Amino acid sequence: MKGVIVAIDGYSSTGKSTLAKRLAAALDYIYVDTGAMYRAVTYAAMKNDIITDGHIDRDALKSLLGSIKLSFELNKKTGNADIFLNGENVEVPVRTLEVSVHVSNIAAISAVRKKLVQQQQEMGENKGIVMDGRDIGTVVFPKAEVKFFLTASPEKRALRRYKELQDKGEKVSYDDVLKNVQNRDYIDSHREDSPLKKADTAVEIDNSDMGLDEQLERMLSYTKDIIEQITN
Ligand code: DC
Repeated sequence: MKGVIVAIDGYSSTGKSTLAKRLAAALDYIYVDTGAMYRAVTYAAMKNDIITDGHIDRDALKSLLGSIKLSFELNKKTGNADIFLNGENVEVPVRTLEVSVHVSNIAAISAVRKKLVQQQQEMGENKGIVMDGRDIGTVVFPKAEVKFFLTASPEKRALRRYKELQDKGEKVSYDDVLKNVQNRDYIDSHREDSPLKKADTAVEIDNSDMGLDEQLERMLSYTKDIIEQITN
């Protein structure tokens, strides 16, 4: 049976990646974390001194883009598909708060989006894929058979991200993480190119007070229903 495309969009720290990963495993589909791709471009820009005091040298970024090669490789230890930048595993550095501070501004640049969206569309050519991000159901795969949109209160999301960063040993304050979450929400949903918004047909899930298992069950049963409808 030919697979479908599952598009999962939503605000930062709504658990999209965790859910997308588990849903893909349950369906035996490929999982792609598109946020990691925007993070890797941001990390490359930082390494190349293209961001100074929050200012992005757009021309330098555009020429850097041509030399950026992104790929995912399975990490046998964690079972995660790690992001690679020009052959280097950058899964850990792309998750720092420093990268989070700049990533929304990098992701708002059309040249960046054009390159990454094209690569994402190629990854989904054979379907059987779960992809999470901000514009998957609206721009990358507007015809995706299954679309979800995840939300939760900014405070709950900041707390989740804060705990994650603490577990990784990063010294950050809850207030800084909350500010970053709110700032990214604003930039992601107000940018001109592909702003974050719910696709018309997406199933919205507010998971402020919902556990992962409950959400996964709902998402899996909805996806299986759609697959069955398409197959029959
Ligand atoms: O999902 P995340 O927090 O790792 O995403 C990092 C940033 O990348 C987020 O602030 C917005 C941007 N992004 C995007 O613009 N489009 C996507 N498809 C995925 C992420």
